[in-house]
Amino acid sequence: MAPASGPRAVLVTGSARGIGRAVAMAFAQQGDRVAVHVRSAVDEGRKTVDSLPGTGHALVVADLGEADQSAGLPAAAEEALGEPVTVLVNNAGIATSADLAHPPATTDPSTWQRHWETYLRVNTLGTAVVTHAMTRRLVELGLPGRVISIGTRGVHKGEPDFPAYAASKAALHAMDASLAVALAPHGIAVATVAPGFIETERVADKLASPAGDEIRGGSPFGRVGRPEEVASAVLWLASPEAVWASGATLDLNGASHLRP
Ligand SMILES: NC(=O)c1ccc[n+]([C@@H]2O[C@H](COP(=O)([O-])OP(=O)(O)OC[C@H]3O[C@@H](n4cnc5c(N)ncnc54)[C@H](OP(=O)(O)O)[C@@H]3O)[C@@H](O)[C@H]2O)c1
Repeated sequence: MAPASGPRAVLVTGSARGIGRAVAMAFAQQGDRVAVHVRSAVDEGRKTVDSLPGTGHALVVADLGEADQSAGLPAAAEEALGEPVTVLVNNAGIATSADLAHPPATTDPSTWQRHWETYLRVNTLGTAVVTHAMTRRLVELGLPGRVISIGTRGVHKGEPDFPAYAASKAALHAMDASLAVALAPHGIAVATVAPGFIETERVADKLASPAGDEIRGGSPFGRVGRPEEVASAVLWLASPEAVWASGATLDLNGASHLRP
């Protein structure tokens, strides 16, 4: 059940920056080879690849809003790394932004529908197609593996201004739970992490604004999370010792939202 010992081939989607880059770095630091995936941030992605310790890392490009590109991503990573991907971290996603806010009471119907389609197409369908392609390949080769998805606290706490974002990630939580059962007989373990607010480049302006204090105050620690704190949890979930966590959703929110 444990992945083969020695360096593994790891695909981290959306890893030019932010949480994805921290995850790529954590795997590289323990000696794994990483395919850094980007959609648009090609230059930033190259810098990330160059910054990783060790050798054999690669850059792969795909738009997860396009099903054929999503389906081809694990094969592209396999080709770039020279061996099949046995660890997939589903990090890429359209996160919340002022542009995509759609509070129910004030959003007009066509905008509402458009935002739902955008979130579901990339966050849910794109990620599901990548995961299907990667795990099918493992089953075909008879290799064990790991899938870890970056979900969100918002699935449990609610996202009042971004209901489609929360729903698109809830679908991933549910997909991972289902795949954990379906793929266990093939030696593939699947888990989800649900971070609260994490200080990435994407949210730097928000954290520096007057809203920052309220966000930090959401946790009794009086701060938000760090990308490295998500990365270390992902690294553990991908470790041989964590196979029994398959099917789990791990909350990483500094006690800002508790659930039974
Ligand atoms: N930061 C937080 O507070 C927080 C909390 C909970 C969950 N999360 C989740 O953690 C993940 C990373 O968040 P982050 O803050 O590090 O955000 P980020 O910097 O925006 O990273 C997300 C990455 O997803 C990629 N992406 C977006 N649309 C894509 C598409 N159509 N096809 C392929 N890739 C696409 C982007 O790649 P390119 O730049 O190359 O286009 C981007 O680098 C996201 O899934 C987010 O929902 C974040």
